[in-house]
Amino acid sequence: MTAPDFPRRLTLRQPDDWHVHLRDGAMLQAVAGATAAQFARAIVMPNLKPPVTSVAAATAYRRRIREALSDGCPFQPLMTAYLTDTIEPAEVERGFAEQVWVACKLYPAGATTNSAAGVSAIEAITPVLAVMELIGMPLLIHGEVVDPAVDIFDREAVFIERELAPLLQRHPGLKVVLEHITTADAVDFVRSGPPNLAATITPHHLHINRNAMFAGGLRPDFYCLPVAKRELHRLALRAAATSGNPKFFLGTDSAPHGRGAKESDCGCAGIFNAPFAIESYAAAFEQEQALERLEGFASEHGPRFYGLPLNSGTITLERQPVAVPQRLHRNDAAGTAVDLVPFHAGETLPWRLATTAAGT
Ligand code: DOR
Ligand code: ZN
Repeated sequence: MTAPDFPRRLTLRQPDDWHVHLRDGAMLQAVAGATAAQFARAIVMPNLKPPVTSVAAATAYRRRIREALSDGCPFQPLMTAYLTDTIEPAEVERGFAEQVWVACKLYPAGATTNSAAGVSAIEAITPVLAVMELIGMPLLIHGEVVDPAVDIFDREAVFIERELAPLLQRHPGLKVVLEHITTADAVDFVRSGPPNLAATITPHHLHINRNAMFAGGLRPDFYCLPVAKRELHRLALRAAATSGNPKFFLGTDSAPHGRGAKESDCGCAGIFNAPFAIESYAAAFEQEQALERLEGFASEHGPRFYGLPLNSGTITLERQPVAVPQRLHRNDAAGTAVDLVPFHAGETLPWRLATTAAGT
């Protein structure tokens, strides 16, 4: 970080987003630019309909992402494979060797949006995990049990105990990212775990606790999975993100759904935070008096864990208030309208993204 006139301007190595949902079709065209405006690279989630389970599907999806961006945009989508009960280890290995995908995503079947084709028993995919362990391919986990007898606010903590701890014992060399952690239990587990275990933290879980979903009525725009937890957990996440510990890094889990899908009798989980993601993290880090740790969290810990080069470009944030709009209306090339509510809608954030200078 270089900050000659700190604290009014902050220049950071350009960050990456280690967990994002870019969707497809009109939604992809509406949202891809927001991520590409801030981040050099992003780990793109494979939970499309149908999910990205083959090298061919990932190659085609990567092409659609690039086509959704303006010509010459340097943004690099990093693709992932969606693990199913039947995915072949050879297919996973081939996509990694051909540099089509960089990691596999494990959704317990039924845990979240478009996860029906996910994994029904983790032991059943042992051959795939063994190959990944051997070739150094990271496993990204949505860490919630799907047992309906487990309270929704306990599903992450129970997953750690029932599934994650035994998994790490079975595969001690596997690189594992516990995605979008929401509890003090996850923070403690990751912090005290081996160096091949890390976690991503979203901006929304740094800002809201579970009360946000019920403030004065039902607030679907604060509903995501894993759901936000009690205040003590939010504080533990803030402490972890701002600690400088390289096991914790940025992953927005930006997950757009159109207004109709959010405001429904069975609304979708997901918070669309991409347009003001780095501003949101900067606000949280400033509140924790840890702005000097933002660059490590946003731009260094992730690539080091994945074994990828650090970005050479930079972004500059200015301490200028930025008003987040209540709604974002986008049209795709065919004129299809997409209506979205961004995270922090109607709020003013203290840091504004001023410039992005792509690297070489
Ligand atoms: O809130 C979420 N939205 N959590 C997930 O795990 C999936 C995501 C989505 O795809 O909408
Ligand atoms: Zn996600």
